[in-house]
Amino acid sequence: MNDPIMKHYVPDTDWFQLSSLQRMLQAYSCVYIKPDVGRKGSGIIRVKKHNAKESEISYNQTTSLCSSDQVYLRIKWILNPKKKYIIQQGIDLATYQHRPFDVRVVLQKPLGRWRATLMSAKVAPHKSSIVTNIAKGAKDHNLYKLLRETDQSLNSSEVMRDLLDPSYQIAQILDSHYPLKILGLDLGVDKKGKVWFIEANTKPDCIGLETIDRKLYRKYLRAKKIMRGG
Ligand SMILES: Nc1ncnc2c1ncn2[C@@H]1O[C@H](COP(=O)(O)OP(=O)(O)OP(=O)(O)O)[C@@H](O)[C@H]1O
Ligand SMILES: [Mg+2]
Repeated sequence: MNDPIMKHYVPDTDWFQLSSLQRMLQAYSCVYIKPDVGRKGSGIIRVKKHNAKESEISYNQTTSLCSSDQVYLRIKWILNPKKKYIIQQGIDLATYQHRPFDVRVVLQKPLGRWRATLMSAKVAPHKSSIVTNIAKGAKDHNLYKLLRETDQSLNSSEVMRDLLDPSYQIAQILDSHYPLKILGLDLGVDKKGKVWFIEANTKPDCIGLETIDRKLYRKYLRAKKIMRGG
């Protein structure tokens, strides 16, 4: 968030507490509350402000209405008191067949240079899903094909470039802080086509991506082989 270029890609984020919830709900009509340490889409809460008096709270595949002055208490009741949580500006994710999706970009550093080797779109199982994790029923799709068929009129080649440029920048920035050789980035594309950086995984799960794009998967395997020294 401190990087002058990258900060434009990171949703407004803060530690979760009453004051940050109030500030965020003033600024955005939708916010996410997430465990500090991710758990494959578990424990995530979405709050959508309907109007000054009423909000909608979604958690664990259920959605309920809540009066605005009760939102903090209701969330506290759901959260694990032993854990730390962040609150984040909600991104209005673009949809494919009315279901939200985000993008997985896998980057590897085989010969001292970062390369984006795998890309896929993770499409949520339902229109109402609040997360797009494979562990929560999302399915991988071929990103190139999907971008041409999204419900929005996103320009697919522009979006592809907008996904790759920040991916390389994120890899370089994280690499300057931690010794990394592989990264799996979760990037969101909102309904206007703007790209957002949701999170970075240092042990990305690439299972199942072979059938999504065989050419890219071969690129991934080649990089993996070089990195192993073979
Ligand atoms: N700010 C946000 N706006 C919209 N959707 C979000 C936001 N944050 C998270 N999501 C949705 O929830 C999913 C899971 O969030 P995130 O990747 O931050 O945590 P996680 O997957 O549980 O962590 P980990 O990958 O480390 O297990 C994202 O892939 C995305 O679909
Ligand atoms: Mg994730």
